[in-house]
Amino acid sequence: HTAPLKAANVKITGIKTPSQPKPNEQLVFGKTFTDHMLTVEWTKASGWGIPEIKPYGNLSLDPSACVFHYGFELFEGLKAYRTEDNKITMFRPDKNMERMNKSAARICLPTFDSEELIKLMGKLIQQDKHLVPEGKGYSLYIRPTLIGTTNALGVSTPDRALLYVITSPVGPYYKTGFKAVGLEATDYATRAWPGGCGDKKLGANYAPCILPQLQAAERGYQQNLWLFGPEKNITEVGTMNVFFAFKDSSTGKKELVTAPLDGTILEGVTRDSILALAREKLDPSEWNINERYYSINEVEERASKGELLEAFGSGTAAVVSPIKTIGWTGNDIDVPLLPGEQSGPLTKDIAKWIADIQYGRVSHGNWSRI
Ligand code: COI
Repeated sequence: HTAPLKAANVKITGIKTPSQPKPNEQLVFGKTFTDHMLTVEWTKASGWGIPEIKPYGNLSLDPSACVFHYGFELFEGLKAYRTEDNKITMFRPDKNMERMNKSAARICLPTFDSEELIKLMGKLIQQDKHLVPEGKGYSLYIRPTLIGTTNALGVSTPDRALLYVITSPVGPYYKTGFKAVGLEATDYATRAWPGGCGDKKLGANYAPCILPQLQAAERGYQQNLWLFGPEKNITEVGTMNVFFAFKDSSTGKKELVTAPLDGTILEGVTRDSILALAREKLDPSEWNINERYYSINEVEERASKGELLEAFGSGTAAVVSPIKTIGWTGNDIDVPLLPGEQSGPLTKDIAKWIADIQYGRVSHGNWSRI
């Protein structure tokens, strides 16, 4: 029997001189890190070792470590918020831990008790709590990471691994803040496919998406709208899930739609939160909320009939990212925005519903965890 991950075993080594927080306006997403990190080693023979919270610093790894050769790497992204009554809470960490364990199982890295890592992240945040920024759009981004560290070039199940967590004080993901983006509908590159692992948060899913993004950028678009298959179904946008809102012009009924979790779609925590809030708050006589397949052809056709209401990306980093235009086969499909604003009315409401919970103005079940 091997040792489980146990938060109570943590060994804490504090930094000598804690750093001063940077002013909010100097925070660029993921470039500043806090004073401490969490590391835990795992071996097949003994299981999880002693969790350590210690000064942020380099890792030392053998160049043959399997993470460098065969992509044994997965990560998570979640945030801690400084609430208006000055508590620090994590937003739905249980969902991230559930997904992290699924990612780990998929690439034969060790799984762990989610509650234990939540406790450890809580202790790490406490250690650096003076560095959690305050204010609208600001938070502490938490990046749990799990890598295979077996030192051998044979392709096989890792018998050693390292779990670590670093944290980064962040502001709005895009330099432009809550600003509508232009997308290129992309069918010449595929982000994920049936039977693949696009629903897991593996580093290997991200690197191949940069070249198509550069190609879209050359044509003037900020992100790719990832299409799949001969139907040209809409799947995700950039590194985010994506939602569209339509209105049926004959019945007047509105619809909020996103792609179903069929194995090609990342199981976004923000996606899940938006679906839950929309189901709670939108009047069902006015709105249908659907997880279904829909294609760029449907979007194009409905836009031409005036039935396209809104579109936005959803993710932990940017939370809600409104879309203003979609380039497809040489034309731009325009998404309506409120006059003089950066989104439509539903996108704006959804962003507020989520922010109210994240900043502790409204409580929602166990979504905010201390
Ligand atoms: C998100 O939170 O939307 C992401 O997946 C972006 C992250 C990879 C920086």
